[in-house]
Amino acid sequence: VVAVDGGGLPNDPDRASTLIQAMTSLGYRAMAVGEPDKRVLPIVRPIAERNGIALLAWPVPGDADLAGLQGETVLRVEGARVAVVTDGTGGRADRSAFVESARDAALQRARTQADLVVYITHRPRAEVLSMVPQLGSLVDIVIRADALSTDPIEGEHIGTTLVLGTAPRAQQLGVVRVRFLGRHVAELQDRSVVLDTAVPDDSEMMAFVTQQRRAAAATIRRVTATTSLVSTTECAACHAAQMAKWRTTHHAHALESLKESELIDECLVCHSSSYRQRQVLAINGPYVGVECVTCHLGALQHTRNPSLPANLKPLPSEMCLQCHDAKHDPKFDFKTYWPQIVH
Ligand code: HEC
Ligand code: HEC
Ligand code: HEC
Ligand code: HEC
Repeated sequence: VVAVDGGGLPNDPDRASTLIQAMTSLGYRAMAVGEPDKRVLPIVRPIAERNGIALLAWPVPGDADLAGLQGETVLRVEGARVAVVTDGTGGRADRSAFVESARDAALQRARTQADLVVYITHRPRAEVLSMVPQLGSLVDIVIRADALSTDPIEGEHIGTTLVLGTAPRAQQLGVVRVRFLGRHVAELQDRSVVLDTAVPDDSEMMAFVTQQRRAAAATIRRVTATTSLVSTTECAACHAAQMAKWRTTHHAHALESLKESELIDECLVCHSSSYRQRQVLAINGPYVGVECVTCHLGALQHTRNPSLPANLKPLPSEMCLQCHDAKHDPKFDFKTYWPQIVH
């Protein structure tokens, strides 16, 4: 068994260290990190090193935060040599040329040194599907670590390569069986397990999670306005009509629906924009729930320069499903819900 993760650590040091401890006990061996994870790396790195979890990223020259990390590792797994390669430093355009050439060299090395080559990328599905034929036999398994997307996680076979997705909020577990013929991959079989009530929780792990949740609730930082958060008031100046409409929707009261004891990670991920963005609970004035920036992810740059798009990513109906999922809103239907909030 080898378990790998696409990264995306919580922004908060305590929660990041909890996560890496949980990954340790679940047997994770490698994790691709990137630009957004930098803030918590000083805390996470020693824990990962102590527990033999390889943190993968390409340190761009001059970038002290990622110094000493590598974008590839070769793990021994039951006699097989498994290379895990990332292209992660978080998708900044000025870095992509450097990362791409480092990655290509690593994939070539990996092919000669390993029996199975796993490549973790943050790129969206369409881009990955067009890239795979060029990489050809260099890669056996590609994992798309774009956890915000609701693309299917089920495998897609392209030539000899298997492309897999990751599920939002860890609601599915992807399992791949590899059959070797000598040192060659003869067959890749994948299945995804939906982690619903049919899969019982592990009692030891749940005790750990409950204890960590309690501790985390106590440490959720409550902030008043901060420069790293975009509030709805900033949009109102130019979009008064949209603002007026939004105020009439349930989204504008989503935080109010939670009791004091429910101001915890488990609920805030969907009921608070500030928590979703920055893992802080903004409690004054305009921070009230599912705000403009939740859906218009490019809002920060757009507010500073309206000619830049405040675009929706991913597509609207998929975006709604991130919160209106089967567990919390089984009757969700885009066609009837959208008219209720259209603005
Ligand atoms: C200084 C004025 C200004 C502010 C502040 C502003 N916008 Fe805009 N916004 C505009 C203008 C002007 C356009 C039309 C741009 C165009 O059509 O090229 C626009 C277009 C948009 C669009 C449609 C086009 C697209 O890019 O998808 C969205 C959505 C949007 N704004 C959301 C927001 C949100 C959310 C905020 C607050 C975080 C915000 N805007 C703040 C001026 C502003
Ligand atoms: C960040 C999470 C999130 C996203 C994304 C989201 N919603 Fe919601 N939505 C909520 C929450 C939470 C509530 C319940 C608010 C409350 O009453 O406390 C809600 C309530 C609603 C309601 C009112 C439901 C009712 O029973 O009255 C509608 C309609 C709705 N959302 C439509 C949408 C649509 C359409 C989209 C996609 C364009 C969307 N939402 C995206 C979290 C979200
Ligand atoms: C995956 C996203 C998600 C999570 C996590 C979540 N909710 Fe919600 N919640 C929603 C959505 C979406 C709705 C709107 C559903 C609807 O109205 O049919 C909603 C509605 C509600 C409502 C009803 C609001 C009203 O007045 O009608 C309450 C209360 C609520 N949630 C509390 C909680 C609590 C407490 C937690 C944590 C234990 C939680 N939610 C976690 C998405 C979420
Ligand atoms: C629940 C998700 C959600 C929230 C919250 C939200 N929007 Fe939107 N917004 C959308 C979607 C979906 C569209 C339609 C995009 C499309 O048609 O391609 C849209 C469209 C827009 C447009 C373009 C309208 C046009 O005529 O083209 C503007 C401007 C806008 N939103 C501003 C805002 C502002 C300002 C807020 C906060 C007050 C806000 N939105 C809150 C999802 C949201």
